[in-house]
This record gives sequence, C-alpha cells and structure tokens, in this order.
Amino acid sequence: MWTLGIESTAHTLSFGLIDKNGIPFPSSTSTIKPEKGGIHPREAADHHKAAASELLASALASQSLSPLDIGAIAYSQGPGLGPCLRVGASIARGLAAKFDVPLIGVNHCVAHIEIGRQQCGCDDPVLLYVSGGNTQVIARLEGKYRVLGETLDIGIGNMLDKFARAQGIPFPGGPVIEKLAKKWIDDNPNATMEGLELPYAVRGMDLAFSGVLTAALRLVNSGKPLEAVCWSLQEHVFSACVEVAERALAHTGKTELLLGGGVACNTRLRTMCTLMCEEREATSFAPPRMYCIDNGTMIGLLGHLEMGAGRVTEFDKSAIDQYLRTDQTPIIWA
Ligand code: ATP
Ligand code: FE2
Repeated sequence: MWTLGIESTAHTLSFGLIDKNGIPFPSSTSTIKPEKGGIHPREAADHHKAAASELLASALASQSLSPLDIGAIAYSQGPGLGPCLRVGASIARGLAAKFDVPLIGVNHCVAHIEIGRQQCGCDDPVLLYVSGGNTQVIARLEGKYRVLGETLDIGIGNMLDKFARAQGIPFPGGPVIEKLAKKWIDDNPNATMEGLELPYAVRGMDLAFSGVLTAALRLVNSGKPLEAVCWSLQEHVFSACVEVAERALAHTGKTELLLGGGVACNTRLRTMCTLMCEEREATSFAPPRMYCIDNGTMIGLLGHLEMGAGRVTEFDKSAIDQYLRTDQTPIIWA
C-alpha cells in the first residue's frame, strides 16, 4: 500500500506519494502566486480548496493508482498558516474516513529534514534549514532535532521575498534575486563590497534579518544598482547562515551538513556550504530542488517513517498546530 502526503502549510498545496518500501515519488503541486502583495492566508486557503481535487487526481494518475491503493494519509499538522493548514487537515481527515485508512499528522520542519536525509544518504547531519518562514540550524541530540540557532525575527526567505516585492518582483522573490546577483558578479568579476556593505545577521548562534532588509532597501533607494544590491544581500545573509552552521559542526563534532527548505535551491548558498565543509573536512549535502521547496512527498515520507515506528494520529488529536516546533517531535523512527 502507498502513503499519500499532503502539504498545505502556506503558499503551496501539494500531494506526494511514497510506496510501501518508503521510496518517494515527485509531487503534484500548485503554488499561489499573488499578482501583488504577499501571501494572504485566507486567499492561499481558497487557492488550496480550489486546486485540491484536480491535484489529487493528477498525483494518483502519475503512478497509475486508484484511491484504493492508498493505505495511509499523512498531512502537515504544523507549523504554518492556520487557514492553509486547516484545508490540508480537512482533506486528510476526509480521505482517511472515506477509505478507512490511518491518519498521521506530521511536523513540516522535520519532514524537510527527513526527505533530505533520505535523498542524500547522510546519517547524522547538522541541518541548515532555510525557508520562507524558518531559518534554523538543527542537530539531532537525545532523540529530538534540537534547534541550536535560529532567526530572531523573520525567516531568510521572507526577507528575500519582501526585498523583491519592494522592487516590484512578485513572489517568490528568492529565485529572481539569485539571477540578478549572478548577473552582477558575472558582469563584474572583480566586484567588491565597497559602498554595498550591509549589517551582519549573526547574533551568537542566532540570526536576525530585518535590519539587513532595511539597509538593503536603503541601498537601492540611494541609487545603487539593483543587481549589485542583490549580490551583496545574498553574500551577507548566506555567509551569516554558513557561519552559524560551521559553529554548529564545530560544537557538535558532526561531519555532515545538510541543506533544506526553499532557499536551499540557491546555487550560491550550496557552493558556500560546500566550500566551508571542504575546509573542515566535512561533507555538504543538498537534496534535489523539487524536495527543497514545500512538497507533499516529504510529508508522505515522514508519515511512512512514523507509522513504521507505530505512530498514528487519532481523529480527536488531529487538530492543526500553527506553532509546532522542530524540537517537539520525538524521533521514533531511526
Ligand atoms: P516553511 O514553512 O518551511 O518555512 P515555506 O512556506 O517558506 O516553508 P518553502 O517552499 O520551503 O516554503 O520556501 C519558499 C522560500 O524559498 C521562498 O521565500 C522563496 O523565495 C525561497 N526560494 C526558492 N528558491 C530560491 C532560490 N533559488 N534562492 C533563494 N531563495 C529561494
Ligand atoms: Fe517549508
């Protein structure tokens, strides 16, 4: 039997499939892309409701399955935006009841980690989890994924998206910033940071991005080329993340670094992590991009793992938890 994974924490509704041996298959995904402004939770929830049935059908069709082939339903129980989470949880409960199969609510952040471990074949990494809403450096210790450092204000992806939005670039802004930054350094291989300095985001083992955002906006408003500011912005905030990740490797004695979350799609960030790891004889891993951004497959995988270890979610415990933390989920599967 297959496990169906349902992701709906924020901008994306996605269905993914895991076969009985725990092998993941690519998701069927739809992301709301507002023409202007950020993601409005209610509008995103409406998008998810409208997209759900066609998307589920296409996920099943992708593996030539009928609903009767599904033996378990996994869904993102949190963290995320309430209205969006509720849509995914309702679909999950409805399918589990109709087909009389077990339900399993999983932790979205932990799912980002487990798909990375599965895809990259690494064992006990320090995790650099960089997404829209989250920025955390994580390591496994005494049965849980512990947060060793994290953003004190906004997630790195939200910061990039907000900067982009102020320049008229629609969501998601991260990939466009990446292109502009690359163009700047390709066109100006000897570029320096002179006049492009930004505040440094490191606060001990934590990070803070809102001051960097304000300063980057000020640089653009003072007439610096947008491409140059995008380059500086990436260099500053990625170095900060890599610095905290390196310190986490040093303190824990671990020798693997694993990237996860949507911002881990970024090639420059991947390169920086590889360089840092080479310098300290560690190894840097990054999963395929389709499994860095939010996807139903990672939810299905974590559901499959947890159910294999005997956990299911009873209906009366299936409510969403907008504020679920990475370190609240006991690692019972490994
Ligand atoms: P979470 O709930 O885990 O915080 P999320 O809702 O932020 O997840 P993800 O799909 O994990 O969703 O990440 C989306 C973010 O990734 C967006 O902020 C987007 O701009 C950013 N992103 C995607 N591709 C890139 C890229 N190439 N470079 C930088 N940022 C990127
Ligand atoms: Fe995510």
